[in-house]
Amino acid sequence: MAIQFYENLSPEVKAVFKLDTPNTSYVIGVVDTEQFLGHIYYGQRLNDYHLAHVLRVKEGAMVPSVNNRDRVAFLDSFPMEYPAGGLGDYRESCIGIETAAGNMGLSLNYVSHKITEGKEGLSKLPASFGEKNECTSLEILCEDSLTGLKAVLSYTVFADVDVITRSVRVVNDGKEPLYLTRVYSACLDMDDRGFEAVSLHGSWARERHIQCVPVSHGRLSVESIRGESSHQDHPFMALKTKGTDQDHGEVYAMHFVYSGNFKVTVQSDPFDQIRMTMGIHPEGFKWKLMPGGEFQAPEVVMVYSDEGLGKMSRTLHDFYRNHLIRGTYKDKKRPILINNWEATYFDFNTEKLIAIAKQASELGIEMLVMDDGWFGNRFDDNRALGDWNVNEEKLPGGLKYLVDEVNKLGMKFGIWFEPEMISPDSDLYRAHPDWAIAIPGRTGSLARNQFVLDITRREVLEHTYESVARVLRSANIEYVKWDMNRTLSDIGSTDLSADRMGEFYHRYVLAVYELQGRMMEEFPYLLLENCSGGGARFDPGMLYYSPQIWCSDDADAIERLKIQEGTALIYPLSAIGAHVADCPNHTVGRTTPFETRGHVALAGTFGYELDVTRIPEEDRNMIPEQVAMYHKYNDLVREGDYYRVASYSENHYFDCYGVVSKDKKEALYTFVQVLGRPNCRSRRIYFKGLDPDVRYRVEGEEEVYLGDVLMKAGYLVRDLHGDFKSRLIHIVEVK
Ligand code: GLA
Repeated sequence: MAIQFYENLSPEVKAVFKLDTPNTSYVIGVVDTEQFLGHIYYGQRLNDYHLAHVLRVKEGAMVPSVNNRDRVAFLDSFPMEYPAGGLGDYRESCIGIETAAGNMGLSLNYVSHKITEGKEGLSKLPASFGEKNECTSLEILCEDSLTGLKAVLSYTVFADVDVITRSVRVVNDGKEPLYLTRVYSACLDMDDRGFEAVSLHGSWARERHIQCVPVSHGRLSVESIRGESSHQDHPFMALKTKGTDQDHGEVYAMHFVYSGNFKVTVQSDPFDQIRMTMGIHPEGFKWKLMPGGEFQAPEVVMVYSDEGLGKMSRTLHDFYRNHLIRGTYKDKKRPILINNWEATYFDFNTEKLIAIAKQASELGIEMLVMDDGWFGNRFDDNRALGDWNVNEEKLPGGLKYLVDEVNKLGMKFGIWFEPEMISPDSDLYRAHPDWAIAIPGRTGSLARNQFVLDITRREVLEHTYESVARVLRSANIEYVKWDMNRTLSDIGSTDLSADRMGEFYHRYVLAVYELQGRMMEEFPYLLLENCSGGGARFDPGMLYYSPQIWCSDDADAIERLKIQEGTALIYPLSAIGAHVADCPNHTVGRTTPFETRGHVALAGTFGYELDVTRIPEEDRNMIPEQVAMYHKYNDLVREGDYYRVASYSENHYFDCYGVVSKDKKEALYTFVQVLGRPNCRSRRIYFKGLDPDVRYRVEGEEEVYLGDVLMKAGYLVRDLHGDFKSRLIHIVEVK
């Protein structure tokens, strides 16, 4: 049994739960007095459950039942499994309430539990999944005796991967309505071992750069209150022990399966303990629970690695590929697409698109994606969002004609939408000005000249769904790029009463999930790619609906090294939308070799974002070769184990990463020399992830090397000259 419950272990600790994955254990204790739930252990797998002695309840003076005089001292130092606020625990709390009388404190104590095989889904929320033989779940029911508030803490352990998922469901079992003012999904109270916090930060065109800072006294938080997971911060944090690198050291990671406001905190307390929490951001959140009402908090994915950040990455990659990503394209190669955004921006018509498609199909590209600008009066980005009718001036003969023509070329067809938005200059806004999110009487803040639709309103959601579905039903559309180009502000909804306005942000995210869930149900064959001004809603929540997400509007090969390094730290390469774009690059003005652009985009979904009819001939001539490269390596890239070999963010000269097949018979390493270095024409790199006892041949070379040698003594990348140069090093087992 992967989850065990042991009783009568010590006079102070009534019972322990021991949760095991293949290589990790997680242990929770139930204190005998008042049934507080305490966190005992998370780390390498243990073979014994006698751990009650490490829970700090023996310090007699601290136990409330023995010494109620110092109850606050107990509450403020005990390692809580799911801490509640207001009664004396002054660290970050996981749950807060306001009763009908305006009171705030609560205490959640163990009542009962249930252990089952398999895993239930979460109501209205994305969540990881597993069959009965793949995972075991535990539900611990806790209760606040005064208010009758119940919290069900859910845990699932997986048999094939070292992941524990957590979530919390809150039920108002009292007689009075109450407000939830915060409800986080996970907490880790552990001894502080001098941790450093790894997190991901950025901006538009600079998403998910890695940051590592020491954890110290005071609270460190990573958060978004933008209504989406955001360009700026990411719903992820890992704590690592000092000296931890890609291959060594301990890592505790939390990743949030959610696409809206979030907060991750870590703090070191005066007792040399740390508390790490993750959940929906409490700012702007207040959820009314009527008697009998329930609130489901989203899921957190937890990973412990004792082999550095690399193992954490590979664990998360496997987990997302096998237990979160769904649908037709879950394990399938994606068609190589060409997107017309950077090729034409708004200046296109049927003729231009067909010319691009024709040339692209001859080169082996498999799908044309028509980006922004095909609908309403959308001649620029100032208008028409919400008017999802084909602009026949641009597309004479309509959408079906264009799609059929593209299909005749042997290509699939994809389309761009930004369904959650409304332009003030649109027929939709003129008909329904109240459909935009707004605070009555206040001039709304525009971003890219657009407002956000209030999809928390049923009629708006229904209209939004139909607008998209109607287009998808009208032609053979096989791919959708679902964009979201501004953050939320000016929160106000005509449908929510004052006592419910604090529910808006979460209801908005639920509406997005409902829209995408419905779309994938009606059109299950679609390849959905989420996008948000590049990668502002790149999170595990969206991954549940779309197997790939546009990673960044910055497709410059060099900028992408950092963006893709941060993204691949926690996401499989199969999820990372990456294209070869035009040069000089539209975002940074840099010119990089076409070959390098292809190599970097290969570590993602692969596609093109340029006008193939207008690029230099020598670049165009390279496309069939790149197409062949994609077909040759994509299975390996999509399914293999990812190893970070060297980081340009750290060394400022070169980047190197590899993908190794699960059976270790084949590997592909990508080496990019960002800047040429004087008097330095070769560089030794140490491959990772190979079988030390297997002999490998580097493609194009005669010599055979032992895996052990390639990893310990390394491999020399020679003849390096020039900036932005890249190499693919493909190695295969020799029998
Ligand atoms: C966003 C996307 C781009 C493109 C434009 C269109 O910025 O990230 O790829 O689709 O919108 O307006």
